[in-house]
Formats: sequence, C-alpha cells, structure tokens
Amino acid sequence: MRTQVGIVGAGPAGLLLSHLLHLDGIDSVVVESRSRQEIEATIRAGVLEQGTVDLLKQTGVGARMEREGFVHQGIYLRFGGASHRIDFPSLTGGRAIMVYAQHEVIKDLVAARLDAGGKILFAVKDAAVYDLDTNAPKVRFHHAGRVEELECDFIAGCDGFHGITRPSIPSRARREFTRVYPFGWFGILVEAPPSTDELIYAHHDRGFALVSTRSPQIQRLYLQCDPEDEVKNWPDSRIWEELHARLENAQGWRLAEGRVFQKSVIAMRSYVVEPMRYGRLFLAGDAAHIVPPTGAKGLNLAAADVRVLSRALASFYRGDEQPLKDYSATALRRVWRAEHFSWWMTSLLHRFHDETPFHHRLQLAELDYVVSSRTKAQTLAENYVGLPLD
Ligand code: FAD
Ligand code: PHB
Repeated sequence: MRTQVGIVGAGPAGLLLSHLLHLDGIDSVVVESRSRQEIEATIRAGVLEQGTVDLLKQTGVGARMEREGFVHQGIYLRFGGASHRIDFPSLTGGRAIMVYAQHEVIKDLVAARLDAGGKILFAVKDAAVYDLDTNAPKVRFHHAGRVEELECDFIAGCDGFHGITRPSIPSRARREFTRVYPFGWFGILVEAPPSTDELIYAHHDRGFALVSTRSPQIQRLYLQCDPEDEVKNWPDSRIWEELHARLENAQGWRLAEGRVFQKSVIAMRSYVVEPMRYGRLFLAGDAAHIVPPTGAKGLNLAAADVRVLSRALASFYRGDEQPLKDYSATALRRVWRAEHFSWWMTSLLHRFHDETPFHHRLQLAELDYVVSSRTKAQTLAENYVGLPLD
C-alpha cells in the first residue's frame, strides 16, 4: 500500500487531518486500533473553541454541530457561596464557545471521510513506524489477518498519549516536560434536565466541581477526587452528596438529580514533547501534549495542530518546504499558551492536599480578582474561547 500521508490514530487529530488534506488534494490513509463503534462511543471532551467551530463549518463538517450543538456565551465561576458570570462576547470582541460532544465530532468526520472515498482502516493491530529519517517512512500493522505495509511520504502521529509514534522517536531526539497533579476528576453522565444555562466551575472547601451538559436530557458532571480512586468507591448517593455540597450556594440554586449511567476517573497531567517532529514523522494532538481538562483545551489544540500541519504539507507539495520546517515551533507556541492557561485554571480551582492556609487565601484572592477586574476576566475569556487560529 502507498499513500502520501500515513496517519496513525482516528481521534479528532487524525480524522480532521485526513479531511483537511483531502480538501487540499492530498491522499492519506488512517490506521486505527479500535473499531468504528468504539471510537464513536468514547465519551471525552465537550467544549469547542470559536476557532474550532469556524474550522469545522468552513470545511463542510459543521452542519450537524450547528443544528445540535449549544452556543454558550459565558461560564460561571462559583466560590465563597456566590456565582459570578464571565461574559465571553463582551470581553473578546464577540467570540463564544460551542458545547458539542467529541464523539459527535468523530461521527461527523468519519462520515465525511468515508463519503468522500477516504480510507480509514479500523481494528488494526500492532502498528509500528519505520524509516522515519528517510524519504519513505512506513507504517506496518496487522489488519484482517494479514501483515500490511503502508509506504508514505510522511507519517502523522495522531495516536494519543498512549500511542506508539512518540516512543518511536529516539530518546536523544526528544525532550519531555511533565507535571502530574495530586488529584483526578470523577466524571459522570446523568439522565436529567439541565440545572444551568452555562457551565459552572466551582471552587469549594471540599474540592472542585464542574457542571457541563450534553443535551436537554443528558448532563455531564465532574468532581475532584483522589487520582487513585475507583468507580466502585462512588455509589450514586455519595456522588450526589458531594455534588450538592460543592455546588449549592446561598442564592438558592439546586442541582437536578437523575439516573447516573456512566462513571469514570480521569487522571490530570500536563505534558509536552519537543520538538513535535522527527525526520518525516510529525506528532499532533495528545500524542505530543496533554493538558488537564479544566481549561477545555485538549481537543481544540489537536484541531489547531492539524490545521498548521495540513497547510504545511500542502505547501510542501507546492514546492515550499519552509512551513513544514516551522511546524513544531509554530504549533508549540499555541501549545505552551494552552498549557499555561490549563495549569492556571487547574491551580486556581482545585484544593491541593498539601496546601497551606496561606496558599488557599491566595487562591481566593485570585478568584476574587478574576471576577472583579475586567482585565483579568478578559484574560480568562480570551484564553477560554481560544486565541485566533491565524
Ligand atoms: P485521541 O482522541 O486520544 O485519539 C487517538 C486515537 O489513536 C484513538 O482513537 C486511539 O484508539 C488511536 N490509537 C492509539 N494507539 C494506537 C495505535 N498503536 N495504533 C493505531 N491507533 C492507535 N478537550 C477539550 O478540548 N475540551 C474538553 O472539554 C475536554 N474535556 C475532556 C474530558 C475528558 C474526560 C477527557 C479524558 C479529555 C478531555 N479533553 C477535552 C481532551 C480531549 O479529549 C483530547 O485532547 C483529544 O481526544 C485529543 O485528540 P487526539 O486525536 O490527539 O487523541
Ligand atoms: C465536558 O463537557 O466534558 C467538559 C467541559 C469543560 C471542561 C472539561 C470537560 O473544562
């Protein structure tokens, strides 16, 4: 098998890259270890930045999102018993966010690729990448009982944090930056009506809590937990007790309960590898960087990476290699901005088990500043809705 760009991983990064390359007349093959059913059912992100929304719309894969997604013009920060709204349009020159689940984006991208005759190989086994420092890198894998070799001009490593492409870069050729947080998130999906018109990020003595949504019937809620915690330790009664305690306030707001039908524990880390390239292998999305979910940046960074990469590859095929040489530096600039924002939101909103009373007072002072200074609120808003893609 031969293609111009071999893409490992059919997450948002890999699928969107394949779609953008197709629009530029560049051929690609996507190899994915899971089945189509699995990737279309995995519950992950929910918030799309303005730039991601615009990119999906402009490239013809935004129609269902526009019909079924929810535009949110702000978020609430809740602490000290009160709720404070951060209004995005007035702080960012009219920008907003869209709440639309990641697996719905995946469904739209898979459908668009298959309709256009794109090649996605699902349920491949033992993928490995070779000859990365030559002009003919290869992906080898098992598919439908056969060993296949895909010869490419370039390989895009879009296989997420636990994939095989990043570890294929010799350790001497990469530098890693990591921070692991001393807490995780307990995430649930609930059959209940919405309790709020916009997301609530709550800082509370008992820990962080977040109220998000998926549809008028399904809500997504998170609460800070021990990173080693297990689902079996959280019967529904304990979840509701903790959420009520962390979210309800003096203003009489009530959280609507409902049937909990999905529970999971999510680890929190910050991670970046530099550079995001080795020879003819280019990393994009979670394969190259992880942010804690507090800033809702992961999926959006994946989209921003592949936009830069698809344009750089298109320039290469038109005879200009410079954008490809600049890919890692260009992408990393946005990555580090998002890393800082995600770390800042995480540090601001969570309780740290080893924090001193002094540190806690500093957190409260910073929260108070965010909701009382237009400048500070603007910093939050412009990062949350996402910096322009260009
Ligand atoms: P992935 O989505 O991880 O896709 C990688 C793909 O590669 C997978 O399909 C995987 O099966 C495949 N793969 C892996 N190994 C191999 C292999 N060896 N061979 C072939 N295929 C392989 N981000 C936001 O922007 N907003 C949010 O609100 C948000 N909330 C989140 C909430 C949670 C609970 C979690 C866990 C994450 C959240 N994120 C959020 C982060 C976001 O989900 C990720 O950043 C995003 O999925 C990254 O996309 P990706 O394509 O780079 O990687
Ligand atoms: C979600 O809806 O899953 C979600 C929303 C905001 C975040 C993280 C996750 O910061």
